[in-house]
Amino acid sequence: MQPPLRYSPNVEVIEENEKEVVDELCDTFDTILETTAKDYGHAVRAVHAKAHGVLEGQLTIDDNLPPELAQGLFAKPGVHKVLARISTNPGDILSDKISLPRGLAIKVHDVEGERLPGAEGTAQDFVMVNSPVFMATSAKKFLGNLKLLAQTTDRMEGAKVALSTVLRGLNSALGKVGIETSALDGLGGARNVDPLGETYYSTTPFRYGDYIAKFSLVPVSPELIALSGDEVDASDDDDAIRTRVRKDMQTIDGTWELRVQLCRDLDKQPVEDPTVEWSEEDTPAQRVAVLTLPHQDSWEEDRVKQLNDEMRFSVWTGLAAHQPLGNVNRARKPVYEHSSGFRQRFNGCPIHEPNGTA
Ligand code: HEM
Repeated sequence: MQPPLRYSPNVEVIEENEKEVVDELCDTFDTILETTAKDYGHAVRAVHAKAHGVLEGQLTIDDNLPPELAQGLFAKPGVHKVLARISTNPGDILSDKISLPRGLAIKVHDVEGERLPGAEGTAQDFVMVNSPVFMATSAKKFLGNLKLLAQTTDRMEGAKVALSTVLRGLNSALGKVGIETSALDGLGGARNVDPLGETYYSTTPFRYGDYIAKFSLVPVSPELIALSGDEVDASDDDDAIRTRVRKDMQTIDGTWELRVQLCRDLDKQPVEDPTVEWSEEDTPAQRVAVLTLPHQDSWEEDRVKQLNDEMRFSVWTGLAAHQPLGNVNRARKPVYEHSSGFRQRFNGCPIHEPNGTA
């Protein structure tokens, strides 16, 4: 196997029109944010608006990691408090009858080291989805998809349920003949799986101290593995995922491994294109820490309010040693600030970072 490639700023290729794309992204998100805020009388995230569970636990950094893995947050063994939010990706709060990809964001508390520009507080956030790749090669391509989505953000839920049901059938038919179906998933064609059994991926790369890496969170405790691929029946419950997670988490002490894949070859593991999966044959995913979420009430009202309204998760909240890399990640900094800024203003509710000033 090739040795890991050392990080240098020139692994990123900055495009000329990035600022214009960000401005258009923010304008398009405003359509979604304003529509939903008017409908609900309350501002929600421009994407991943619906939470299905909010959890508290801890991240234990492994002892004795080899030098190439003992980087940034993972340079020092230790235990950190964690807050986690499970979501699905649309910017409106839809019935769980519409089956969609899952998101998992975690905030790792009390992290030491130089901060990213503008990163308040002392946390390191990881923002992940249950697919190894992102849907768009660049922020500009994502903008194209988003413009379509923005037009469907309203209460036409019946049509969305119907579309999702059709796409799900189509998805499994295409899957049987081996055709890539991830593009359909975002439109409501994903399998309606239990989020606790899923593996989550950063999809985009990050600086990993002296190196470059992608992250994943893999369920390893038997109770979680047993839920892997298990479908949630949402036929008579619009919040069936929340109900399921709440029931599961009454008894499950869940553990996930946090793994990293190091970039070893920029052609095979590109930094600027998150639609390319980094093959585990070329660069294995190696464990660096263990996430533990013990059994608890996953819909505890105060914590739901705290994570939904008083917090945001952003890949740009963290250490300089884990700088988000690539076009898509660069665009996320101002856009996440824009969405959470809107929520903050509309709800009259400041967003707090642990040990931050707000
Ligand atoms: C150009 C690309 C992207 C844009 C414009 C974008 C935009 C956003 C925005 C506006 C939010 C809500 C922020 C807030 O109000 O707090 C958000 C949240 C989120 N995004 Fe992205 N995103 C992008 C790429 C990605 C990628 C690559 C992933 C996959 C890992 C991802 C996963 C998530 C998740 C899981 C959340 C919810 C976090 C939470 O629970 O608070 N996004 N995104």
